[in-house]
Amino acid sequence: MGIFTLAEQQEALVTAVTNAIKQSRKYGDTSEETIRQLAEEAARQHKKPKAAIKAVRARLHSIMAPYLGDPDYAALAQEFSAAFAAHDEARINQLCLQSLEAHLSTRERLPIMTDFYREIFAVTGQPQSILDIACALNPLALRWMFSEISNQLKFYAYDIHEPRIEFINHYFQLEGLAPLARVQDVAMNFPQEQADVALFLKEMPRFTRNYGDLGRPLLQALNVHWLVISYPSVSTHGGRNLTGRYREFMHQIIDGFEWPITELLFEGELVFIIEKAVK
Ligand SMILES: C[S@@+](CC[C@H](N)C(=O)[O-])C[C@H]1O[C@@H](n2cnc3c(N)ncnc32)[C@H](O)[C@@H]1O
Repeated sequence: MGIFTLAEQQEALVTAVTNAIKQSRKYGDTSEETIRQLAEEAARQHKKPKAAIKAVRARLHSIMAPYLGDPDYAALAQEFSAAFAAHDEARINQLCLQSLEAHLSTRERLPIMTDFYREIFAVTGQPQSILDIACALNPLALRWMFSEISNQLKFYAYDIHEPRIEFINHYFQLEGLAPLARVQDVAMNFPQEQADVALFLKEMPRFTRNYGDLGRPLLQALNVHWLVISYPSVSTHGGRNLTGRYREFMHQIIDGFEWPITELLFEGELVFIIEKAVK
């Protein structure tokens, strides 16, 4: 008979799996809270560390989507510091674009970026507070969202990739903004902050695949006036048109809420602007 209870054995397994993933090159940048949660789920299904680690890595592949790309955060942060110190506006803009280029979601948006925010904010009004949920590098589009950046702007950004959030906060502070980007797993803890607009860009299909039907309660919980939810309008592989499928999917998610909805179709991105709080 073993001296350890089943609960103790499971806890030891969870810790071993969490530590192994946290030390791995590919997924070590992920929030420990997220890894632990996935390790707990894996430990209920697998007794051996090897199998549990494999299961967590498979989940993280889908959740973190590392294949979408990353810049060298430390190097870029240094370049930003130098460009701001030199008041070199052209260089700052170039570094923002270089950051946005490094991740597929923002890279795809580059050709439409100026129109994208102009047309969205024409519907919502210029926000004074934003939640950018599952943001990846999108906060680096700040200069294409606002012609003037007020230090009163509250830009909350949420992701579970630690160096990405640190980098975004570094950039925000150089721009004179409060460092409101945070490592937060929005599937475990819905954002609580109040804001004019919440952005949830090109993530709902993956979110649904990763967490089941959590999209609807997430949108319901957000304490914002406007929800801006987008989808790729063509598939990454093969260029299939996804507009019809995602329009139906979006309408299913908010079925019954009777929130007014405006649709904008850009080259490559389908956007729904939902007014949660009608004035
Ligand atoms: C496809 S990218 C998002 C792209 C970005 N919204 C845009 O359109 O430019 C997905 C991002 O969501 C983050 N993510 C995935 N699951 C998350 C969760 N549960 N909580 C917070 N962030 C999450 C990933 O780390 C990744 O940076």
